Amino acid sequence: MKIYSAENYEDLSRKAANIVSAQIIMKPDCTLGLATGSTPEGLYAQLVEWYKKGDLDFSGVRSINLDEYKGLAGSHPQSYRYFMDSHLFDHVNIKKENTHLPNGMETDTHKECLRYNALLAESGGIDLQLLGLGRNGHIGFNEPGEAFEKETHCVALTESTLQANARYFESPQTMPRHAYTLGIKAIMQAHCILMVVSGPAKAEALCKSLYGPITPQVPASILQLHNHLIVVADRAALSIIN
Ligand code: F6R
Repeated sequence: MKIYSAENYEDLSRKAANIVSAQIIMKPDCTLGLATGSTPEGLYAQLVEWYKKGDLDFSGVRSINLDEYKGLAGSHPQSYRYFMDSHLFDHVNIKKENTHLPNGMETDTHKECLRYNALLAESGGIDLQLLGLGRNGHIGFNEPGEAFEKETHCVALTESTLQANARYFESPQTMPRHAYTLGIKAIMQAHCILMVVSGPAKAEALCKSLYGPITPQVPASILQLHNHLIVVADRAALSIIN
């Protein structure tokens, strides 16, 4: 495990974007596992800037996102498809047909999970998996529980996650209560994992994830077993560790 300490959010975003860029330069036809949320926004903005300068080429890149709300169409401003389009895909030369997210509008949960697992298997694996960290230690939407969920599944969001994400919705009633997410197996099978963590609200979860017992009660703690885990975190997120 490598931990890079960033001065602040801007520094974190630049450092993390450098790592993603290096992946794209070293393997132009790589598969990126991507995440949404507020933490990677700066990273995506930086990638777009470097693309516009001519430093990056996404034409061979394929992406597989971690998760999507169940019940939201890609055109919904709070869907993760919409987030990815507006923060990254619409601004770089990635081929839209090479970008993948779970289909939030598929009501047949079993069918959608099988489709996403098959897509992952066909892709030949994720080269670089980007992760944010939930305040309760979740990764993707793998919420704390009794066991690590291995495969793509549909999850009932916990109260902590609902509260954290409520800020994005007009009213709590309109917020989806379920989401599709990659399982822990796919995340752990990525060649390299890059986790970005920012702010004091994540400090405890980060400390438990990296140094606490490995337990499904803190889903990110499983990352301690990964051979190539890179954490880029700002000082506030590292405050308990340093
Ligand atoms: C989003 C995702 C989530 C977020 C996590 C942190 O695709 O998988 O696990 O990474 O909830 O979100 P932020 O960055 O908004 O604090």
